[in-house]
Amino acid sequence: MNTPQSGILPAASSNGLFMLFRRRLGRRADHSCKQKLAQWPDLVAQLAQANPDAQFSATLGFGADLWPEIYGLEKPAHLRAFPRISGAIHPAPSTQCDMILHLRAERYDVLYDCADQFTQTMNEWFDAIETIHGFRYRDQRDLTGFVDGTENPQDDERAAVALVGVEDAKWAGGSYLHIQRYVHRMDNWNKLPVKQQEAIIGRTKDSDEELPDEDRPQTAHISRVVIEEEGEELQILRQSLPYGTPSGDKGLYFTSYCKTPDTFEKMLARMISPTTDGRVDHLLNFSRAVTGAAFFVPSIEALQGLKD
Ligand code: HEM
Repeated sequence: MNTPQSGILPAASSNGLFMLFRRRLGRRADHSCKQKLAQWPDLVAQLAQANPDAQFSATLGFGADLWPEIYGLEKPAHLRAFPRISGAIHPAPSTQCDMILHLRAERYDVLYDCADQFTQTMNEWFDAIETIHGFRYRDQRDLTGFVDGTENPQDDERAAVALVGVEDAKWAGGSYLHIQRYVHRMDNWNKLPVKQQEAIIGRTKDSDEELPDEDRPQTAHISRVVIEEEGEELQILRQSLPYGTPSGDKGLYFTSYCKTPDTFEKMLARMISPTTDGRVDHLLNFSRAVTGAAFFVPSIEALQGLKD
């Protein structure tokens, strides 16, 4: 198996930096651009080695439109843009762009230095269009006050869920990445009694336990995203983090890695579109997606191969 980029599998980190890039008008990802991208894994390794206490890790991913310029006609089997879901009654805008940098560490200064260096190196070809600093909130809670990430796959299951395997051997070790920036309506949320908040999430707030089936509405977040197919629950590896400022937007930078884009798309469809059982996710009465984009994160070997 090829080596996955370091930011996909590790447990939740205290800081995340999410940067979205668009290719500059009239610029093509030429030989010199590809040489620079090929050096990226070495830069990440050097930074991680120089700052062992930071537990620095990173991923770099490309969108479907940019992909052919970088890798030619060969592409991961299911690489496609962020989905447009029919019948949606909650917004899930596609703000598809060309490249994402997802940096993670216990120290924000390391993320800053790395992002700054990367942005300057790639400035000739790419404009940064959004930069968001995510942070751990209390004991890994979302700003709604609920623990986020509890039901993520653990141990060896993380790689099995997140990484492409032999089914697409050329791109094995890579991962399909989806992001959405959600803006929470905190004022409205905070006015709800905790019992109602719990019915909306589908778990208890303090003790982080799943509500029993009989108490959990079909409109609860958990009820929407838990999907069983052939006796197995579909899974994604979430690396989301809260972000925001007291005076500005605040919410969740939703981040999902998976060996296929289908799983995220099916979960999102059950959250926003009433076509499966007439219901949608009531969490979305309190939070609105304002961005959405899809990428493929190639293995380290596939990135390094760009130098040839
Ligand atoms: C406003 C945005 C969102 C918030 C605040 C949020 C919050 C949460 C919380 C608190 C949990 C329960 C704890 C846990 O297992 O992590 C959870 C579970 C989960 N969420 Fe979300 N989430 C959001 C968006 C999404 C989206 C867009 C998807 C996928 C399309 C998603 C997929 C999942 C999955 C798969 C679980 C685990 C369910 C289980 O196995 O019990 N979430 N989320």
